[in-house]
Amino acid sequence: MQTATTLEVLRSAVDALRQGGKRLALVPTMGALHEGHLALVREARKHADAVAASIFVNPKQFGPNEDLDAYPRTFAEDCRLLEAEGVELVWAPGVAAMYPDGFATNVSVAGVSEGLCGAARPGHFDGVATVVLKLFNQVRPDVAVFGEKDWQQLAVIRRMARDLDLSAPHVDAIVGVPTVREGDGLALSSRNRYLSPEGRARAAALPQAMREGIDALLAGSAVAPTLAAIEAHLLQAGFDSIDYVSLVDATSLEPAETLGDAPARLLVAARIGGTRLIDNMGVTTQGPARL
Ligand code: PAF
Repeated sequence: MQTATTLEVLRSAVDALRQGGKRLALVPTMGALHEGHLALVREARKHADAVAASIFVNPKQFGPNEDLDAYPRTFAEDCRLLEAEGVELVWAPGVAAMYPDGFATNVSVAGVSEGLCGAARPGHFDGVATVVLKLFNQVRPDVAVFGEKDWQQLAVIRRMARDLDLSAPHVDAIVGVPTVREGDGLALSSRNRYLSPEGRARAAALPQAMREGIDALLAGSAVAPTLAAIEAHLLQAGFDSIDYVSLVDATSLEPAETLGDAPARLLVAARIGGTRLIDNMGVTTQGPARL
């Protein structure tokens, strides 16, 4: 496995991997890798001859009072895990390589960026779109793989790829991978490391409350009281605050007032002991929802 920290090294490594018309997949990450990331790598392998993973904790997607400094950085262990998965290339630029002095460009995707995490974390999706477009231009992958855990992020990236007519990767080659969960249902996240043992135990209420809410919706309960019941369940289970509990159209992310034929998605962001957890699940009578 080769590690590139400069664009020059990255470009020659990418050229070598592509020789003979080979296909390259990219798995963008911020490191602190867990089984959820490894599921992305395994999916990437199905779509390409070679897999590159990027590791870059992107300062532009953190707000001034967020956890940029505390964000776990486990580079040596990340590389060990990626190498064990047979990843061919790690792209690990420093902040100065990604955002050299004078960097002045911001990529902003309206609409799908605006509600939910976009409302709770102003500027977050501009930071994500900017770095992901840069990563796409740097690596020029045939395929890029992201977790459905960040459902809104995936919608933003697909919107950007469609709107900007990207070809590397094309919007149809942006692959979403279902969320990997712990035994008690908690979605894997690098931020789960922040939870105290007590907080971790309480966090299991998040997928439980969501599943109960989905069952209630599918059994005919009205949307607004069901969302309120999920919120009450979480507060009662020891969550400190709720950013949102929303039922949305799975593709447009517009609020869904009722459960219709179009796939809907339940999205939640809630805080426990200072840790912000997000999760989402499909709500559909028509089979699994896909962005
Ligand atoms: O999902 C993430 O880890 C990040 O938001 C991403 C896509 C790597 C951009 O920094």
